[in-house]
Amino acid sequence: MYVCLCQGVTDGQIRDAIYEGCCSYKEVRETLNVASNCGKCACLAKQVVRETLTELQTTQAALPYPAEFTVA
Ligand code: FES
Repeated sequence: MYVCLCQGVTDGQIRDAIYEGCCSYKEVRETLNVASNCGKCACLAKQVVRETLTELQTTQAALPYPAEFTVA
């Protein structure tokens, strides 16, 4: 779904930006230029960022060992 019509940014692109290393709304905004024109999408963009970061933290907390650990 499109979050930012001015810049053509979707919720999937916001999630991907977070999976690729963005850790805050500010970083997502700098990376994708979301909410950089009219600003009407800022609330929804922040909500997608918040939900994705919470989801990631919950997933990582549920792992029995750190994600970078691999079993040979
Ligand atoms: S809809 Fe995102 S800046 Fe206008």
